[in-house]
Amino acid sequence: MLWTIFLFFNGLFIITYLYSSRKRRKNEPPLDKGFLPWLGHAFEFGKDASKFLARMKEKHGDIFTVCVAGHYITVLLDPNSFDSVLSDTVRLDFTPIREKLIQRIFNVQLPTVKPLSERKWMERHFQGVSLRKLSSSMNAHLRSLLLNDHKGRSPSEWAQDGLFSLCYSLLFRAGYLTLFERTENAPTVYHEFRKFDELLTKLARGILKREERKIAYTSREQLWELLSPNLLNGNSTSWQHSYHHFLQEEGIDADMQNKALLLQLWTTQCNAGPAAFWVLGFLLTHPEAMEAVQSEIRVLSTLQDTSLQWPSMNLLEASSTPVFDSVLNETLRLTAAVMINREVVQDKILSTADGQEYLLRRGDRVCLFPFLSPQMDPQIHHTPQIFKYDRFLNEDKTVKDTFYKGGKRLKYYTMPWGAGRNSCVGKEFAVTTLKQFVFFFLTHFDLELCNPEAKLPPANPSRYGFGMLQPNEDLMVRFRLKRTYHEM
Ligand code: HEM
Repeated sequence: MLWTIFLFFNGLFIITYLYSSRKRRKNEPPLDKGFLPWLGHAFEFGKDASKFLARMKEKHGDIFTVCVAGHYITVLLDPNSFDSVLSDTVRLDFTPIREKLIQRIFNVQLPTVKPLSERKWMERHFQGVSLRKLSSSMNAHLRSLLLNDHKGRSPSEWAQDGLFSLCYSLLFRAGYLTLFERTENAPTVYHEFRKFDELLTKLARGILKREERKIAYTSREQLWELLSPNLLNGNSTSWQHSYHHFLQEEGIDADMQNKALLLQLWTTQCNAGPAAFWVLGFLLTHPEAMEAVQSEIRVLSTLQDTSLQWPSMNLLEASSTPVFDSVLNETLRLTAAVMINREVVQDKILSTADGQEYLLRRGDRVCLFPFLSPQMDPQIHHTPQIFKYDRFLNEDKTVKDTFYKGGKRLKYYTMPWGAGRNSCVGKEFAVTTLKQFVFFFLTHFDLELCNPEAKLPPANPSRYGFGMLQPNEDLMVRFRLKRTYHEM
């Protein structure tokens, strides 16, 4: 007992000493340690990182260092200076942070896999012929799931559902069938995945309560079992099978290969469903945007060979859809909130666009949070809280990509896909998927809000930093097959 008390106070003394001994040195960014030793701003950061960082920006400007759970994190919020972080792969390293995170969330360790070779493998599978194959399989699965889920209803009968559940379930199952090619357990995997995904941010921050930890760990084990390659058809040419081979060749043992599949399931499936929800949600709550997209669809449908299933993959690929593209960009500007983190592995001088130089200390972290700037920055986007479907359109309906801050044209004016060496490799696949889904849904179904006055629910603030945001609650919608498709 005495020994425990001694260790406790000794630990407390060391933490307090380390915390109070950290002082801002010459040329370092403003330092804000918070009041609690070691924890610093951990509570505020975990509760709503966006609100917290906006408060810090207000207090310190575009660059500052904060203490969060024992880490000193320099946050840079000037997009004109982002390249000084993104292009330095010698002094700044993503790998140690990623390794810690995937170990904590997925219990995955891949020490022999080189990040560059994994990235190359990923890129190969989301480009060219592979990408076309994946997109066309995704298209087929989306159609058949949507129509099958609706089978058995009499013509003109409305189905009712939460839009978030509807989108997540459809996109997830179609994505799983496409990449994992496992028809026998898609609904079970989805069900288990949602339980795990709901607790994922707490798991990542290490703040699960005892009961939650039990649920998260049980779900994770269930998913490992469900994804287990032992049940796989040995001749499969699926994406999953190929990933499994890649890991085998990199010297990863069978148990770890299996665990890594859950990591890949999450990486590939956690964003598209929520993104589809926000796109349809914004369209349903902004009639002028819905009308603009519907009118783009009407024009496209006149180009369609009537013998083909509408909208066909070829047509979607060949035609430009500037209105939909702007709607998607605007949706992601408001709802994609990645954090780009790097560990400082050697002391570094960071030069910012305004000509300042800041010293970054080895062992600290650097974080870009594009959601605050550029995405929600009023100096870049006028009334940034408002959904403007044509924000990324010029008057002649060409893509608008010129945005400025402080008179300087921006390279990064929205960054939903991240940037640098670990940006989204599935971007093209995701954009095609979302377009297929939205166009197919709007052409085959009547879709409306159950309550015409309903507003889009706010985002769950604990998910800032984890890719696509998710809503705090669902938005009820009803939908039915359009008259023209009753006979299908
Ligand atoms: C709207 C949908 C999506 C968004 C907004 C999105 C966004 C992102 C972001 C921001 C990252 C970087 C994560 C980080 O740095 O922590 C990322 C990584 C990744 N994404 Fe996506 N993603 C989407 C959909 C998809 C889809 C559908 C796939 C594949 C089926 C996919 C595959 C990947 C992969 C494999 C990585 C890891 C890349 C690496 O580690 O090098 N993404 N995604």
